[in-house]
Amino acid sequence: MPKIKLRLQKVSDAKRFFEILDNDHFSYFGARPKSIAAEKEFLKNNIKRRKDNTNWNYTIIYGREIVGGIGVKINYHRKYVGEIGYFIDEKFWSKGIASQAVRLIEAVCFKKLKLKRIEIIMQPENKASEKVAIKNGYIKEGKMRKAVRGKDGEMKDCYLYAKVL
Ligand SMILES: CC(C)(COP(=O)(O)OP(=O)(O)OC[C@H]1O[C@@H](n2cnc3c(N)ncnc32)[C@H](O)[C@@H]1OP(=O)(O)O)[C@@H](O)C(=O)NCCC(=O)NCCS
Repeated sequence: MPKIKLRLQKVSDAKRFFEILDNDHFSYFGARPKSIAAEKEFLKNNIKRRKDNTNWNYTIIYGREIVGGIGVKINYHRKYVGEIGYFIDEKFWSKGIASQAVRLIEAVCFKKLKLKRIEIIMQPENKASEKVAIKNGYIKEGKMRKAVRGKDGEMKDCYLYAKVL
């Protein structure tokens, strides 16, 4: 099992995040930055997101290298519900990094943020993401019809996985 750490995202992560996310193989991931400058803007706003308790975004470190990101988005109406999202540099796929990152952010969600329920949502074709949810003991609650806009602009069905306290 790779030993990873999570720390809060910094504006200086922008170049590396752009490098990771500017990838045509991220077929089911909605947040591809247009430029390093755009990514910097996104990262700057993390301070406000934390202050408003809307998103808590972390950088995943493996050894001394940034290998991805993971975050939790707090439900606007029900502050005790959060949705986890994650991405890993393609060079580091299938080493168990995302699975371990989910375990680490889960502790933040339940202990620090006092969430009662964590959701993970993915398109059915995103088998790696589904496996991350299953390996961490998330339970499939069903299919959400036309829940996300896909890269082609069409609305796509998603699986809903969740863990509750
Ligand atoms: C989804 C993602 C974060 C997984 O990261 P990861 O560090 O490779 O995940 P893990 O290694 O912890 O687990 C992935 C599992 O899926 C398996 N897997 C990978 N591709 C697969 C496929 N096409 N079909 C079935 N299983 C697959 C891996 O073998 C691994 O299982 P194992 O531990 O039993 O070997 C990564 O693929 C990614 O960044 N994708 C692009 C962004 C994205 O889609 N994010 C999620 C949006 S919902």
